[in-house]
Amino acid sequence: MELSQRLKKIPPYLFVELDRLKRRKVEEGADVIDLGIGDPDIPTPQEIVETAKRALEKSEYHRYPANPGSLFFRKACAQYMKRRFGVTFDPEREVLALIGSKEGIAHFPIAFVNPGDIVLCPDPAYPVYHLGTIFTDGEPYYLPLTWDKDFLPDLGSIPEEILRRTKILWLNYPNNPTGAVASKEFFQEAIDLAKKYDFIVAHDSAYVELYFEEPPVSIFEVDGAKDVAIEFHSLSKTFCMTGWRIGFAVGNGEIVQALAKVKSNFDSGVFTAIQEAGAFALENLDTLVPPLRKIFQERRDFLYEELKKLGYELKKPQATFYLWVRVPSGYSSSEFCKKVLEELAIVVTPGNGFGSAGEGYFRIALTVDIERLKEAVRRLGTLKL
Ligand SMILES: Cc1ncc(COP(=O)(O)O)c(C=O)c1O
Repeated sequence: MELSQRLKKIPPYLFVELDRLKRRKVEEGADVIDLGIGDPDIPTPQEIVETAKRALEKSEYHRYPANPGSLFFRKACAQYMKRRFGVTFDPEREVLALIGSKEGIAHFPIAFVNPGDIVLCPDPAYPVYHLGTIFTDGEPYYLPLTWDKDFLPDLGSIPEEILRRTKILWLNYPNNPTGAVASKEFFQEAIDLAKKYDFIVAHDSAYVELYFEEPPVSIFEVDGAKDVAIEFHSLSKTFCMTGWRIGFAVGNGEIVQALAKVKSNFDSGVFTAIQEAGAFALENLDTLVPPLRKIFQERRDFLYEELKKLGYELKKPQATFYLWVRVPSGYSSSEFCKKVLEELAIVVTPGNGFGSAGEGYFRIALTVDIERLKEAVRRLGTLKL
């Protein structure tokens, strides 16, 4: 069967070899510590589960959901944006429910990108920005995120002819995989550039509540953002709800409505009972999330200190549950990750899997408990480099 040209353009999955190795290790009976997946090991808070159970009983929810999301859910999103960032959104026009933020991110380019248009994508990055671009026959232009620039793209270095052809600039802070956060000044620079060259800034905010020091900002806290920006939010990481599939987009009404139009032709919305649980979660964020943050902070502090003691180079992440670590010299990302898996039965993700600028790094997800992290550190201490 001949695949479509578009599907053929999707690069091969980089982790095939590592996945095979991991499966083999498990089959051999090894005690594998998986620090690879960005999926919290902690269950969703019980109050959210109870809300969903009650909502399941409502027979009116058993029919098709409202396509852009129920108004009660979109109001809860708008109220959260107001409470947390001080910005106002019209829940009817400027807020849209998503089946997880990945769904919105993947579909978004369809609303604006024509063949040959440029989409600016960070590198390393969550792969959906450039994959969504490829599905629309757009051209990704990669913006390297480097250690010396604190993993922020150098917007001043993008050539003029690229900026003139740009439709979307993707940003993601707090950042996966580097753990970096962005300042208002950086967001202002991005918005000013977008207004000058008439493109959209699409900001992926999936980790905005997983912080350990200062709360990260929304792009809408800077002047003019409402003219050109959309922001993607996720309940997945904030409330340990990755399996529930719920997120939302907020932003400029025209931009949000364009995505709503795309989505109304692809899907039929989020199950209303899940939206009720999601609204409850957002309304109770201030009591539900601090205990979760505390758990991830304890893991981050522990592993950061221990990796430093072992001689690894990394910056202390202010947010997200990832550590972005330099590979010891003499190894490529893949070679090092393979060695760690083969010799220590620890899974970590090679940085080049997130883009070529990720070469020389590996990513650790803090998604196992502290006892397992202690065991991982013990094993790392035995590694002969
Ligand atoms: C940067 C980033 N954005 C978006 C997502 C998607 O999250 P979800 O679709 O669960 O909302 C992820 C998931 O790993 C992510 O790392």
